[in-house]
Amino acid sequence: MPEKSAGAVVASALVTAHGEPPLRGEALAATVLRDAALAWEDGVLTYVGPAEGLTGPDPIAYRGMAVAPGFVDCHTHLPFFGWRADEFEARLAGLSYRELHGEGGIYRSARMLAEATDEEVLAFCRPLLQEMVDHGTTAVELKTGYGLSVENELRAARLARRLAAEAPQTCTVTLLACHAVPGGLSREEWTWVACNELIPAAAAEGLADAVDIYVEDIAFSVGDLEMVAAAASAVGFPLRCHADQLGPSGATEAAAALGARSADHLNNLSSEGVRALAGSETVAVLLPTSTFFLRAAPPSVTGLVEAGAAVAIATDFNPGTSPSLSMPEAIAMACTLYGVPPLLALTAATANPAWVLGIADRLGTLEVGKRADFLVLDAEEFRQVPYRPGHDPVVHTYIGGERKGGR
Ligand code: NIG
Ligand code: FE
Repeated sequence: MPEKSAGAVVASALVTAHGEPPLRGEALAATVLRDAALAWEDGVLTYVGPAEGLTGPDPIAYRGMAVAPGFVDCHTHLPFFGWRADEFEARLAGLSYRELHGEGGIYRSARMLAEATDEEVLAFCRPLLQEMVDHGTTAVELKTGYGLSVENELRAARLARRLAAEAPQTCTVTLLACHAVPGGLSREEWTWVACNELIPAAAAEGLADAVDIYVEDIAFSVGDLEMVAAAASAVGFPLRCHADQLGPSGATEAAAALGARSADHLNNLSSEGVRALAGSETVAVLLPTSTFFLRAAPPSVTGLVEAGAAVAIATDFNPGTSPSLSMPEAIAMACTLYGVPPLLALTAATANPAWVLGIADRLGTLEVGKRADFLVLDAEEFRQVPYRPGHDPVVHTYIGGERKGGR
């Protein structure tokens, strides 16, 4: 019998959300326990509580530091290949994201991905996943969407599954079946292909855990969302939706009515959208680094939280609208740009996104029975994280009780 791997730490503070996500209202605020301890066996937490209640072998002591659950980044666009810093500069000179869409934007990333070999794509993405671990991300969503054909979308999903198999963190794969209308097809034609060929093929090969669609005037419509929802539900995939990012479209209301796990972006959320989210399980996924990077107007998040919606925070990591993979940075922006209080931001970066990804039974909070995925932060107070944007607060990242990253 191999020896059981076990361990324990004590820290000046332990901060975590509690209860059944998606958390909303008062349950959104994470709670703080001073002089706390964690213990685990075989990667699973066996003790969470006051340091004085800990029994067993000597724990590692992290004095003056806090432990928190690992961050769950529920919205990224990895795998992609190559950067688009020239588009960033062109936008600073006055071009809009809409204007760049075509020669640049999603189509350009699709060309770069198509021209790279599998090994080149994997070699590009691998260090980015480790950089995420070093910034505290212990679970992450990978998303297709730069394929723009059935064959290339399935290839992107297979590459995502390969990355997931070797990554230190837990990864899920979302099929962004409708991201941009492929050249030579109408929107209606591609939506038909996505629903009748792509989604069933991805399901048959076990390549995805959820389906997403980009609803926008430069992309897909609410009618397309309804068709994609039906195709996803036919094969048992949960639904996600890029909603109301560049302009209002009613996508949030439709996503909530269709039982989507999440509506993401929400910069142009209407008051009907706020009511729809508050009255449903659909989580409002906030992507403040893309708001910052596009210099867009923030959504009214205070209103959303007060109305009772469940919220999550993610990076939207992609080469076009959010080249930041740092959850501490996304949390800092959520607090400063969106007015989210730090302890709400922690829940929105851990328990709620774990629910969005369908992994909340084992990840997202520090509770006995969950995986020992936790961070050692270089401050006793979680508010130090958003207070110091640009500073990396993650001293150690533990995944399944083992140190997998940090500084
Ligand atoms: O979530 N808005 C659509 N998709 C991405 C951007 C993709 C890109 O520009 O490459 C987003 O912001
Ligand atoms: Fe996105």
